[in-house]
Amino acid sequence: MTSEQHEPALWALIPAAGVGRRMGADRPKQFLRLGARSVLEYTLDIFLEHPAIRGVALVLGGGVDRDAVDLSGAGGRLFIVTGGEERADSVRNGLAFLAQRGRPDDWVLVHDAARPCLPPADLDHLIEVLRDDPVGGLLVAASTDTLKLEGVEGRVERTLDRSRVWRALTPQMFRLQALRAALDAALASGVAVTDEASAMEFVGERPLLVEGSPMNIKITRPEDLDVAEVYLNRQQRLRSGR
Ligand code: CTP
Ligand code: MG
Repeated sequence: MTSEQHEPALWALIPAAGVGRRMGADRPKQFLRLGARSVLEYTLDIFLEHPAIRGVALVLGGGVDRDAVDLSGAGGRLFIVTGGEERADSVRNGLAFLAQRGRPDDWVLVHDAARPCLPPADLDHLIEVLRDDPVGGLLVAASTDTLKLEGVEGRVERTLDRSRVWRALTPQMFRLQALRAALDAALASGVAVTDEASAMEFVGERPLLVEGSPMNIKITRPEDLDVAEVYLNRQQRLRSGR
């Protein structure tokens, strides 16, 4: 066997089929502008510009005009897939598509379209740390606030140990077939699957926590657009050394 046959490929899967209910804009938040470009364009570029990513499955809502998505700069590495009812259904559709192109042991990096501020260095770090991992893992951020667990009648039950509680970000990086099987099992049993790691946890795996930048926010409400713009500008300044 050649070494190429041993090296699993890396794929990106971008769920972008949500409607952005909490944003309440005239279109889904991934199509809103941040300066000259859309949120989605920023997000896609992080993966399309990454030399190790074999291809990107972009999952769009059924009602979206496909021609509105500029595929010209993608060099044939961008594939459009139709989404589903919930985020997990959209991810499942993307995985079904990738399963036709990739191998079961290939890696899939699932990353929310609504997170355009992922620092490229965090993506590199995640890949580097997990490349030889049997399971995979996810980017996480520390909580700067003290965390309270609610008990009865809206009163504090106790304070959580902040050093052991992490906020789950994306990308989340798992093996194609293992993630597919885990999502299927979790969805079939009716448990809430809000990220890929929870599906893997459901089947008994223990994803690795990889600390990333808190700048990697998920644009959710109108005020988050302003914050994202500040972070994108900051990253551009850091890149150009100013
Ligand atoms: N997503 C998706 N398919 C769905 C729902 C969500 O692909 N059926 C995507 C969104 O487009 C987003 C990511 O999953 O990039 C994270 O979801 P979220 O931030 O909740 O986005 P929305 O569901 O669009 O927002 P809201 O929950 O406020 O309606
Ligand atoms: Mg949602």
